[in-house]
Amino acid sequence: MMRVFPASIPLDGRTVIVVGSGPMAEPKARLFATSPARLLWFTGKTDGPVPSDIAQYAKIERRMPTRRDLRGAALLFIAGSDGVPAEALARMARRLGIPVNIVDSPASSDFQTPAIVDRDGIVVSIASGGAAPVLSVDIRAAIEQLLPARIGLLADLARELRGTVKAVLGRFGDRRAFWERALRGKARDLALAGDKSGARREMLRELNGERGEAAGIVHLVGAGPGDPDLLTLKAARLLREADVIVHDRLVSEGVLNLSRRDALRIDVGKTKGHHPVPQDTIGEILVREARKGQRVVRIKGGDPFVFGRGGEEMDVVRAAGLAVEVTPGITAAVACAASAGIPLTHRDHAQSVTFASGVVKQGGPDADYRALSAPNSTTVFYMGVGAAPEIQRKMTEAGRSPSTPVALIENGTLDTERRVFGTLGGLAALVEREGIAGPTIMIVGETAAAAASQAAPKTLEQFA
Ligand SMILES: C[S@@+](CC[C@H](N)C(=O)[O-])C[C@H]1O[C@@H](n2cnc3c(N)ncnc32)[C@H](O)[C@@H]1O
Repeated sequence: MMRVFPASIPLDGRTVIVVGSGPMAEPKARLFATSPARLLWFTGKTDGPVPSDIAQYAKIERRMPTRRDLRGAALLFIAGSDGVPAEALARMARRLGIPVNIVDSPASSDFQTPAIVDRDGIVVSIASGGAAPVLSVDIRAAIEQLLPARIGLLADLARELRGTVKAVLGRFGDRRAFWERALRGKARDLALAGDKSGARREMLRELNGERGEAAGIVHLVGAGPGDPDLLTLKAARLLREADVIVHDRLVSEGVLNLSRRDALRIDVGKTKGHHPVPQDTIGEILVREARKGQRVVRIKGGDPFVFGRGGEEMDVVRAAGLAVEVTPGITAAVACAASAGIPLTHRDHAQSVTFASGVVKQGGPDADYRALSAPNSTTVFYMGVGAAPEIQRKMTEAGRSPSTPVALIENGTLDTERRVFGTLGGLAALVEREGIAGPTIMIVGETAAAAASQAAPKTLEQFA
């Protein structure tokens, strides 16, 4: 049964009044921080300073309002503390036709304050009729995660163009079809990426019936290290909205399950013969699908721009004249260090941290091992397992002590995570003995010992 009706009250050019002070009144005054309403806040004479954030947009009066003050107000909130004649004020306001909310007293209020998700042009209200405010707050938190931060920008654009669209498209059905394309297509992607003028251009192009080839978009998205909880809100949203998902081996099933059931999934991490799809073919797939007008999400383990060839894919998509947007992810080094409790920097032990690759392109330049072996620093190797003997040799030859602590984190953040500890001088033997085969991060530096000292006895022995 719908016990309350969440009507929307226009606030442009209106006045909202808050009476009272302290923790009952301040949250009500804050509700209007981003609204176009004029906020009048009547605090008591003897009350302390007004919070500076509210003072920036509210007109403060250190007295009680008169009938004249109230006249014409859109809403009145009364936080009934000592010295506030709540009942008398409510009566006066009601006679003037102003709806009244007496804070924390739903039974004597004309309206209740809902939990609000505010995205400028879009406002979501969650009402429980005052019965379960905590539940409303939790629902709000869930909706906050679902709604893109810039959805209001899209609504603003739609408001700006509404008159033009009505003038150009006379038939209601045509207008609805236009808005469906405009608010779900490329203009939406551009607006959510913060490109308002690009989004406006795209909407006008759509309105003029110009449908170019570059209708689709490719999102290069970081999936983080594997645990779906470590995905960014934006990555989760892009996955939900994607028509096509191009993923590789490191993207966990838990992450992929966030996508729509009818989205096309293309696994470029391996084929039947377990060979990864060549990079050129991946580029061709991205361009082919985006040219069909699809919203393509190319999702990669960790961050797309950290040892992920994201830069090459971005260039291919751009060269094809298609839009590309990059969404970062938590890179494996950062995630594994956090998971194992290893600080990557430390004021006493590591003033810098370097991410390095254990493998280099055939015929390409090797890493500078003198720099990687500097004292008071942490070096984190990606793809280092196969190169453990060379890493051990090159770092010790470059001057890093063989007794430098080393931590290996395999399948970091997944249920199968494994941590083993040792020293640089025994790195190759450690990899061999432990049979490390999954994706692994190698952390070389004094801080790696921090986790070893908290580790289970088996790994402590290895450390000794
Ligand atoms: C091609 S790189 C991709 C790196 C990725 N773009 C990132 O930012 O994490 C693959 C390497 O990342 C590391 N890696 C990725 N995910 C990992 C995880 N969950 N645990 C440990 N290492 C991981 C391993 O060193 C693996 O060999």
